[in-house]
Amino acid sequence: MTDTFAALQTRAEGEGYTTTLVQRTLEDLPEGEVLVRVQWSSLNYKDALSASGNKGVTRQYPHTPGIDAAGEVVSDSSGTFAEGAGVIVTGYDLGMNTAGGYGEYIRVPAAWVTRLPQGMDARTAMLFGTAGLTAGLCVQTLLDSGVTPEDGEVLVTGATGGVGSLSVALLAHLGFRVVAGTGKADAADWLTTLGAVSLLSREEMLAGAERPVLKPRWAGVVDTLGGEPLANAVKSTAYGGSVACCGLAASTALPLNVLPFILRNVRLLGVDSVEQPLAAKAAIWQRLATDWRLPVLEQIVAAEVSLADLPPWFDTILKGGMRGRILVRLS
Ligand SMILES: NC(=O)c1ccc[n+]([C@@H]2O[C@H](COP(=O)([O-])OP(=O)(O)OC[C@H]3O[C@@H](n4cnc5c(N)ncnc54)[C@H](OP(=O)(O)O)[C@@H]3O)[C@@H](O)[C@H]2O)c1
Repeated sequence: MTDTFAALQTRAEGEGYTTTLVQRTLEDLPEGEVLVRVQWSSLNYKDALSASGNKGVTRQYPHTPGIDAAGEVVSDSSGTFAEGAGVIVTGYDLGMNTAGGYGEYIRVPAAWVTRLPQGMDARTAMLFGTAGLTAGLCVQTLLDSGVTPEDGEVLVTGATGGVGSLSVALLAHLGFRVVAGTGKADAADWLTTLGAVSLLSREEMLAGAERPVLKPRWAGVVDTLGGEPLANAVKSTAYGGSVACCGLAASTALPLNVLPFILRNVRLLGVDSVEQPLAAKAAIWQRLATDWRLPVLEQIVAAEVSLADLPPWFDTILKGGMRGRILVRLS
């Protein structure tokens, strides 16, 4: 145990926000049952929003972002977790208005904490992180709605991003023919390595946006973009197909009409990973450690960085420049 520990801290400075490495004490952490020594965290789009002063994500600054953390339990007053137990904390309020995984310690309610599944280490858990949990929830949503590999091609939009790349890899692993919707033509080889059978360019994803329905193509879709790409994906979904909608990287708008739903029986299904009941999160983590274990997982690591080296990546992810996942190594 330690009196002080390293953490990133975002604070208002002049017109903007800066994030620097500081020393904090355990007394600085909020009240909570479980004290966790964080070993690994990761970078998600929402972390970059928090680190850039987005008040929709974080109201109070100074603040330590990091919506993902994996590490070891130091103490638990609820009696749920033994000292030294490997755990994962993602979502709920972690890294939003509760000091997050970009600190060497977090203190959180036991109701936010899930055990590391057997066979998965903390680094692997954070290689997935919220992005992988969300990809897993999207895939589970499509499977639950009855989409099978025999039904035809599935589309993943924002395919080079964290949620997108892990969705491509998961769906390919399950035997689906995955088309990767991406703005990065130069990522073709990498997306193929992850299991995509072909690419759909950003222009192709937007073509025909003025039409009420488009040629039916997709048995299922994982959409991380929202806006016109999502509207077009719904309009191109084949009879009885399903669309899992989890992101807003392009827009929060949805310029759509009812025809795909009432003529083609298309289902548009929302996916949230943040407030999802802990048991549902644990079920996805269990699958990611067993039958959804991905042979291509290491290919998804864009970089493995220390806390000090993380801040420049906030801008990259905000500008849509990610290709895979950033792992953050704490101790
Ligand atoms: N519902 C949930 O619980 C949940 C959980 C995690 C994330 N999310 C949301 O899911 C989205 C993806 O998150 P992430 O962490 O995977 O982010 P990310 O790594 O930044 O991936 C987003 C990808 O979307 C594409 N993109 C970015 N800006 C775009 C634009 N303006 N127009 C079209 N495409 C654009 C880019 O991929 P290409 O260049 O390949 O097109 C980018 O790599 C975000 O909106 C995030 O808030 C939701």
